Amino acid sequence: YRQNGEFCMKIILAQPRGFCAGVVRAIEIVERALATGEGPVYVRHEIVHNRHVVDSLKAKGAKFVEDLDEIPSDAVAIFSAHGVSRDVEDGAAKRNLNVIDATCPLVTKVHNQGQRYSSLGRTVILIGHAGHAEVEGTLGRITGPVYLVENREDVLNLNIPDDTPIAYITQTTLSVDDTRQTIEAVKARFSDVIGPETRDICYATQNRQTAVRNLCGHVEVLLVVGSANSSNSNRLREIGEECGVPSYLVADGGQIDPRWLAGKETIGITAGASAPEVLVDDVIGALAKLGSVEIKALQGVEEKITFRLPPELLKAS
Ligand code: F3S
Repeated sequence: YRQNGEFCMKIILAQPRGFCAGVVRAIEIVERALATGEGPVYVRHEIVHNRHVVDSLKAKGAKFVEDLDEIPSDAVAIFSAHGVSRDVEDGAAKRNLNVIDATCPLVTKVHNQGQRYSSLGRTVILIGHAGHAEVEGTLGRITGPVYLVENREDVLNLNIPDDTPIAYITQTTLSVDDTRQTIEAVKARFSDVIGPETRDICYATQNRQTAVRNLCGHVEVLLVVGSANSSNSNRLREIGEECGVPSYLVADGGQIDPRWLAGKETIGITAGASAPEVLVDDVIGALAKLGSVEIKALQGVEEKITFRLPPELLKAS
């Protein structure tokens, strides 16, 4: 709206937003490994799916690779927060790499749960997005039969007898509502199904999704700060659209198209679990260049969860 001829925007921030405990831990692991100065520090895959985070760790000396083979044998090898398959872990052990595992403990929990189901003789159905690093790690943790499904159609198309004992697990960063539907499809199709309902979707994902739904009741356009390859950030944008609010994923303020804001007075901002608050500030800064801004944050649950660092790093500090 216009005030004294100036364009004014109300910015409302979702609460909670941004970094989760698993991301904070993963970044700290890389920083501490760099600080100990024990040889080069390599990270397999982006430590978390955010380019800004990766670039700032690169600037401090960390090297990022996709393949273990690219890591020299005297180096520290850090596994990203998304987790790795058993093969990757075994490959690192075979080469005697000095591994520090930054896999989020909530991803590890899903790995263990999947393998437990598998040892009970159940065929495991993993609900998740094909090609995502976490999904590849989880699939590669289960020694028995395991199938990946993304949605209800995939469940219907599975080539498994309907009376097969099934257990399902899920990726940690899915849409709670979509996952509930996929689980319903699994239960409808198979006669013997066990699983955790939507509890594999982590607390941070669930809280950010609830906060975005709440935010959407107050805003005309939604900006989700996060990288294009961040699963949970994409889900937040989709939820905005589902709520009927035009929603855009932006890596930083530079990606805002002023046309999105034409005629809008209230702008909602949230951030994915891998997006640092400096990028939220950058987005607010970019908006402030277009007119005057008034900022408030919605009430939301306060997160107090933190995860312990791996013991080898605690010893070193
Ligand atoms: Fe872990 Fe959830 Fe964050 S699985 S890395 S706490 S988004």
